[in-house]
Amino acid sequence: MLTVMKPGIEEYAQSKTEKHADVLEQLQRETYEQMDMPQMLTGPIEGQILKMMVKVTGAKTVVEVGTFTGYASLSMAEGLPEAGRLITLDLDPVCLAVARKYFAKSEHGKKIEVMEGPALKSIEKIDGPIDMAFIDADKTNYKNYYEAILAKMNSGGVILVDNVLWSGGVLDPKTDDAKAICDFNDHIANDSRVDKVLLTVRDGLFFIRKR
Ligand SMILES: C[S@@+](CC[C@H](N)C(=O)[O-])C[C@H]1O[C@@H](n2cnc3c(N)ncnc32)[C@H](O)[C@@H]1O
Repeated sequence: MLTVMKPGIEEYAQSKTEKHADVLEQLQRETYEQMDMPQMLTGPIEGQILKMMVKVTGAKTVVEVGTFTGYASLSMAEGLPEAGRLITLDLDPVCLAVARKYFAKSEHGKKIEVMEGPALKSIEKIDGPIDMAFIDADKTNYKNYYEAILAKMNSGGVILVDNVLWSGGVLDPKTDDAKAICDFNDHIANDSRVDKVLLTVRDGLFFIRKR
C-alpha cells in the first residue's frame, strides 16, 4: 500500500498551496503563543480547502460549528462574496475574544456573525437555507449537528466535518470521542440522502453533499 504522508510531505504541500493572509499568520502565531490547545486550529492547508469550497460552491450562507480563535472562520469569509455571511458558533468566551479581535482586523470580518453559546441551540435559531457548513466542535455531538444542519439545507448543500480519522483512532476506538466519530462516520456511510467522500487530509475531512 502506498503511504503518502512521508515526513516533509505536509510542508511540501503547504509550500505549493496559496499563502494565507498576514492577519491569519498573526492569528496563528497568537494562538500558538497564548492558547492551551493550539493544535485545534485548522491551519493553512485546511483553511485554503475551506476557502476554495466556499468559492466553488458559490455558498452565500455558511455555518461553522466550533470557532476556536477564528482561523477557519476568516478563511471561509475570504471566499464569500461581499453580501455573503458566515455564522460561527462557540461557547468559550476566551477563544471568542481572540477570534473577535482578528475578525475586526480583517476586511472580511464584517461578513462574520458570532453566536456565543451551545452550538445546538444556536443552530436552532439560524434561518436557512444554509449553503455550506463546517463541523469542528465536540465530537459526541457531531451527529446532532449534522442532522440539525442538513434539515436547513437545500439539495446541493455541502457539509465538511473535521477530525473524522481521529489520528487513526477510528481503527481501534477506545475513547468516547473515538467511538462517537466512528458512529458518526457509519451514519454518513449509510445515509442515502447524501453523496460523501472521506478525504484523508490532515486528521480526516468528510466531504458531504445533500442530494
Ligand atoms: C477544534 S476547535 C475549532 C477549531 C476552529 N474551527 C479553527 O479553525 O481553528 C473546537 C471548538 O469547539 C468549541 N465547542 C466545544 N463544544 C461546544 C459546544 N457544545 N457548543 C459550541 N462550541 C463548542 C470549543 O470551545 C472549541 O473552540
